Amino acid sequence: MATWNLSTTKHHILICNGSSCKKAGAEELTQSVRNEIMAKRLDSVIHTSRTLCNGRCHDKCVLITYPDGHWYKEMTGRDAPQLVESLLKGSSIEDKVSHYYNGECFIPNEGTVLGVYKDEGMVKKVSKKF
Ligand code: FES
Repeated sequence: MATWNLSTTKHHILICNGSSCKKAGAEELTQSVRNEIMAKRLDSVIHTSRTLCNGRCHDKCVLITYPDGHWYKEMTGRDAPQLVESLLKGSSIEDKVSHYYNGECFIPNEGTVLGVYKDEGMVKKVSKKF
């Protein structure tokens, strides 16, 4: 158990460790992101958490950054250096972002599979790409 002091934390990275993402390399992604943060001595600036499924399994491995609200797709351990660098610059890995937060809702990036609207239930498995 740990209780981290977050008073200097500027970024929070949520790394999906649900079953679909785990099969696609979530453990390696998690370790690569954490190693990159440690190597750059950014532990007090960037906090990470493993999560269970985030409901976007098609996008495995899924990673989410806050407070910017970027949802990433198809992340691998090789993306860790660029991810950390982009956080520090206030930018993103454009071609890996599935959704951007516009202050009201999450907007799908080009090429993102939209998925099923929650009020449609599980009638359609995966809807068209944006
Ligand atoms: S297991 Fe990662 S989004 Fe479902």
